Amino acid sequence: MPRLSLHFSLVLLLLAVALPAAAEFDPDRPTVLITGSNRGIGLAFAQYYAAEGWNVIATARRPERADELKALQRQFPQVAIEQLDVTNLEQIDALAEAYRGQPIDVLINNAAVLGDLPTQKVGGLDRDAFQQVMLVNVFGPLKVSEAFAEHVAMSEQKKIVALTSGLGSLKLMGQMSGFYYYRMSKAALNMGMLGLRKDLKDRGIIVGLVAPGMVDTQLLADSGYRGKSLTPADSAAGVAQNIAALTAEDPGKPINVDGKVLPW
Ligand SMILES: NC(=O)c1ccc[n+]([C@@H]2O[C@H](COP(=O)([O-])OP(=O)(O)OC[C@H]3O[C@@H](n4cnc5c(N)ncnc54)[C@H](OP(=O)(O)O)[C@@H]3O)[C@@H](O)[C@H]2O)c1
Repeated sequence: MPRLSLHFSLVLLLLAVALPAAAEFDPDRPTVLITGSNRGIGLAFAQYYAAEGWNVIATARRPERADELKALQRQFPQVAIEQLDVTNLEQIDALAEAYRGQPIDVLINNAAVLGDLPTQKVGGLDRDAFQQVMLVNVFGPLKVSEAFAEHVAMSEQKKIVALTSGLGSLKLMGQMSGFYYYRMSKAALNMGMLGLRKDLKDRGIIVGLVAPGMVDTQLLADSGYRGKSLTPADSAAGVAQNIAALTAEDPGKPINVDGKVLPW
């Protein structure tokens, strides 16, 4: 028997080392769920809201590689790290089920891809590359919003937000060349979120679109842009302040990180 209990204790010890600590949510604090939060602006959102004392559901395609999130969780026990690929319908449903009954005050649809740029200009067009960008940047946010609408509706703040871009604006970028799929995806995302805004209004849910500015992330580097940019931390703080200011009375137009309406 003593040998068995020693063995049992060792197994428990190994499990404790291998598994991340379970998040300790405070039911009196608001909760945010962020897609694509292992790097870039998504990670900065997780850091911002954790430091503000929120319960944070930080999702990533590969949580086992999300070292910055793991460090955040060690600092703030109210951070949960969950697996979510926004193109994986089973994962979306499973996560929504796992959090059934948990109010989510703010859902941030942040995850997106720029896509392979050579396929986004005349001469290189590729259907698979197009579909991948649209699945991640358009259908993913819509489907995630649908799956978590009930969690948002039962919260205090009731907000669903998607990160848009000036590249999706007909007024600003209608004449630009290249970046076809990314630009089309953000224009389509805007339209989808406006539809959600109308359809979820009766449940008290406020749907908003915020553009984070030019932000120093991998996505911006991959775009070839070399001009001035915001840090992810400054952008996330600015977007979060805009989210906090959203009301049901707003006209629902996309807004920029500086709080101004983004021409669309
Ligand atoms: N940076 C800018 O200047 C800028 C400007 C305008 C708008 N935005 C928007 O801001 C948001 C964040 O962009 P960012 O600059 O932070 O980009 P980023 O650094 O490239 O990060 C993108 C994030 O999305 C995740 N992701 C990609 N595909 C996914 C999928 N199928 N399921 C779940 N997660 C997925 C990535 O995870 P992996 O690590 O697993 O790939 C990563 O966490 C995006 O919506 C982007 O369009 C950015």
